[in-house]
Amino acid sequence: MLENNKVATADLVIGDKKFSYPIYEGTEKERALDIRKLRAETGLITYDPGFVNTGSCESAITFLDGEQGILRYRGYDILDLAENCEFIEVAYLLIQGRLPTKAERQRYARLLNQHSMLHEDMQGFFRNYPEGAHPMAIASAMVVSLSSFYPEIADREEEKSLAATRLISKIRTMAAFSYKKSVGEPFVYPSSKLTYCENLLNMVFASPVADYKLDPVLVKAMNQLLILHADHEQNASTSVVRMVGSTGANLYASISAGISALSGPLHGGANQEVMEMLEEIRAHGGDVDKMVERAKDPNDSFRLFGFGHRVYKSYDPRAKIAKKVCTGVLEKLGINDPLLDIAMKLEERALNDEYFIKRKLYPNVDFYTGITYRAMGFPTNMFTMLFAIGRLPGWIAQWYEMHNDPNQKIGRPRQAYCGPTQLRYVPIEQRT
Ligand code: ACO
Repeated sequence: MLENNKVATADLVIGDKKFSYPIYEGTEKERALDIRKLRAETGLITYDPGFVNTGSCESAITFLDGEQGILRYRGYDILDLAENCEFIEVAYLLIQGRLPTKAERQRYARLLNQHSMLHEDMQGFFRNYPEGAHPMAIASAMVVSLSSFYPEIADREEEKSLAATRLISKIRTMAAFSYKKSVGEPFVYPSSKLTYCENLLNMVFASPVADYKLDPVLVKAMNQLLILHADHEQNASTSVVRMVGSTGANLYASISAGISALSGPLHGGANQEVMEMLEEIRAHGGDVDKMVERAKDPNDSFRLFGFGHRVYKSYDPRAKIAKKVCTGVLEKLGINDPLLDIAMKLEERALNDEYFIKRKLYPNVDFYTGITYRAMGFPTNMFTMLFAIGRLPGWIAQWYEMHNDPNQKIGRPRQAYCGPTQLRYVPIEQRT
């Protein structure tokens, strides 16, 4: 427990009164000032828009050092995991806290296969969405709908664990069905003969008239990209999952809210925006300078998508791996995508620009993933959905951790009210 490692005390002096607050240190030396008694003792609240300085919990899942570009899940470096693991091993690691043995991985793969189908009645939901419905909108609704198909979810550990397995397995099927709906093709069912990522690719790209030939390079790339997204400590969507879960809402409802949070263009939606931005640059003759100038203009709200990060103030380690995966996939498929050239030119231009250097803005994970997904055949509106499939084990692990934390409370920030002070009620007839 964090509070067992008190390393110092901070004094707060207000007028002639002094208040002392403990400082704790985590295992990677990050220090946290414990202000839990602040309001009760001083009447003050903290003011921290965007929670930039606020630690909402202690966590043993993911460590990231934004200055040095380090990312580890349960202590393991992201590069090791992405190079050596299948996605389901990483899902197991995040949720169970350790890597599975061979037998455990086999059992987990079997379990995921057993739960991969959707209730037949759910198919009607997919069919009735309008053409062009975004897969993220469909997925968040489908995930919350699971709580009505499987209402037995309760406090018992086995039921929570079953709900987690169901979600990880079924989200692939949901993603594939929403894609099939958008292109007007029949749904392809999951197969127990295929691995997790093989099934995802097959359900998306196979059709009753054409088998999909699984390419091991693409299957590995899919595993790697999902691993890169699997957790990222207390980001916006994870904080939403924890916040919703803190109310006692079930796992499905909490994850559905996380999917909605992830859809925003400043978060998971950025991978789609990156592609649209690169397409726009291509349409204007490949001029990256113009985009960079727009991004720097204080009077233009435009931002270079796929650049910058709240926490990373150096090269995002996930972006490095994503770039390597991208060039590997394009090479294997023999694709010469002009968008990759534009992306690399844009990266080079931005990394040498004083504006980006000063603000420590580097490519983030979203910068290269879209080009890879596109080469694999995914349409742009599926990119954020793939991010959500990857992030799901992280959300689940964080949700469990929150529920097992004795210090956990319902999330309820305060505010500094700046509206009108008391007004006299004016009857409607007298209002002008
Ligand atoms: N392009 C141009 N300028 C930028 C960018 C960018 N992509 N990102 C940040 N800046 C500038 C800001 O304008 C600001 O400049 P100022 O100091 O002159 O006002 C400065 O850098 C700091 O930016 P903040 O918005 O304070 O940084 P914050 O940590 O709040 O935002 C965020 C992080 C939202 C990711 C931001 O960098 C951004 O909008 N990036 C583009 C969207 C994107 O790629 N999102 C994906 C993030 S990764 C993920 O969710 C998986």
